[in-house]
Amino acid sequence: MALREILVAPDPRLKIKAQPVGRVDQSIRDLMDDMFETMYAANGIGLAAPQIGVSKRVIVMDLAREKEGAPPRPMRFVDPEIVWMSDERVPGEEGCLSVPEHYADVERAAKVRVRYRDENDEVQELDCEGLLSVCIQHEIDHLEGTLFVDHISSLKRSMILRKLQKAKRIKADA
Ligand code: NI
Repeated sequence: MALREILVAPDPRLKIKAQPVGRVDQSIRDLMDDMFETMYAANGIGLAAPQIGVSKRVIVMDLAREKEGAPPRPMRFVDPEIVWMSDERVPGEEGCLSVPEHYADVERAAKVRVRYRDENDEVQELDCEGLLSVCIQHEIDHLEGTLFVDHISSLKRSMILRKLQKAKRIKADA
C-alpha cells in the first residue's frame, strides 16, 4: 500500500473522462488499497481514481467514517454506472478532497441504483439512498471529469477555483 497525492482543483487531470477497467485484476485491487490508504489519511468518505491522477473508472468509499468510533466499512466500485435514478431530487451540502475547505449545496437524485464490478470481478447492483446515494453520484461524476462545483453557479464556482489557485501559488512560493 502507498499513500498517493490527491490532485487539487483547478487541475486539467481532474477534467478527463476516465477509461473503463473491464476486468478487475490484482493491479486494480492494489490501486484500490492505495486509494483507501490515501482517503483514510485525508479523512475522506469517498475517492475516485482520477483524484490521484489515475484515469480509470475506480471508486472507493467508506461512509462509516461519518460516525465516530464506527468500524470501517470499505466499499469498492469498478466501472460503476447508474442504471436507474428517482425523479425526486434533494439538495445537500457537499465537499471534496480535490476542492479542500469549500462546501456548497448540490441537488441530486434522491435514490439511484448502481451496477458495478466488485473486487472479485463480479457484477453487482446496489440500491442507494441518503448519504450513500449522494456520495456515489459525486464519485461517478469524478469519472466523467465533473466536480461538485460544476453543479453550482458559475459565479460561486469561479470564486472557489480562484481561491484554490491562489492557495496553490502561495504553497509553491513557500
Ligand atoms: Ni470529490
